[in-house]
Amino acid sequence: MAKANVVLGVTASIAIYKALEVLSILKKRGYAVRVAMTEEAQEMISPVVFEALTNAEVYTDVMEEIESDDTNITHVALAKWADVFVVVPATANIIAKMSYGFADDPVSIIALTTKAHKIIAPAMNTDMYLNPIVQKNLEILKENGFVIVEPIDGELACNTKGVGHIALCEDIVDVIESSLYFKHFEGRKVIITAGPTAEPIDPVRYITNRSSGKMGFALAKMAKFMGADTTLITGPVCLREPYGVKRIDVERATDMLDALKREISKAEGEIILIMAAAVADFKPKEYKESKIKKSGSEFVLVLDENPDITAEINRFAKENDKNLIIVGFAAETNDLIENAKKKIEKKGLEFIVANDVSRSDIAFGSDDNEVILIYANGKREKINKASKEEIAFEILRRLI
Ligand code: C5P
Repeated sequence: MAKANVVLGVTASIAIYKALEVLSILKKRGYAVRVAMTEEAQEMISPVVFEALTNAEVYTDVMEEIESDDTNITHVALAKWADVFVVVPATANIIAKMSYGFADDPVSIIALTTKAHKIIAPAMNTDMYLNPIVQKNLEILKENGFVIVEPIDGELACNTKGVGHIALCEDIVDVIESSLYFKHFEGRKVIITAGPTAEPIDPVRYITNRSSGKMGFALAKMAKFMGADTTLITGPVCLREPYGVKRIDVERATDMLDALKREISKAEGEIILIMAAAVADFKPKEYKESKIKKSGSEFVLVLDENPDITAEINRFAKENDKNLIIVGFAAETNDLIENAKKKIEKKGLEFIVANDVSRSDIAFGSDDNEVILIYANGKREKINKASKEEIAFEILRRLI
């Protein structure tokens, strides 16, 4: 069974080819998709292409609908069928029509009829996008519950650079997906640390921990999906931040601690902190300003302990009257449960997410994980092997 039904409205921006990519990602993620196209869009890409990809007729003509025998392909049927209605790309023209309630083309008529979640991904020339009329129309759409996947800065078809380039397709699909989540964390602050920290030895070398950052990024994505005001503080990783998440890049453990203190000082009300970062426990005692040369003999590197960030932040929050709920992670190769329990007390944790990093099919760099949640009272709960996003959702569900 499909995860949910998406009606994809396609209009005639030069970014129209992105509609095909969005459709293909939606299909891969298990959504059922039906397509509606404006007349001008049909001149740019034949509806046949969308028909082949969706195995269904494309809605192309509001007048023809009246004569058609196929009751599945009326604007009312599609509007009812949809869980999400998304316009990719959305031109200034369709934005104007939808904001003023026009219904004379296959896309605006569904926008006006459907009770589904409504999302648009605008794409147009910078001056057009920044034109106060377009901006005003976008405001009207927002006031009426539409979610705008903001265009980004980039190369535009008119040989200029600027805002107006359609958002990344993965982000558009993430926004579609997130519309289906209940916003349990609306108005709440969630801070997540991710990735390793890197402790420099000299300008070219550092010591670090093994961590891809995937678990922390998955947590940030799910926290955002669930409506949280989400900040991701990350060490050096090769990952793109989830859409709508504030990202702060740091290098050393002490930078991560400083960033956390700044964010926690700014935040009001309850703050949930999930420490998914693999913070380096040690740092070089001395940093050499210039590259250390080989000397032909043994090289001794003296290390100092890094502060325990979580324990310090717990103290900091208490001193500053901040209502902080902390979840820690434990990457262990042996005595998983015993070691985790000790940390709960030392670091002031709500619970600890323990994973067994000796298993090669989960944890480090993998897209999957299997974890045991260990609570202060000794209670344990296993979350069976699943994608890191599913595990993230399960962790967050326990903090609602
Ligand atoms: O003590 P250990 O490193 O095993 O604990 C892991 C947990 O503590 C993780 O949540 C990690 O982010 C955090 N940590 C920390 N400061 C350190 C080392 C780890 O906050 N110096």
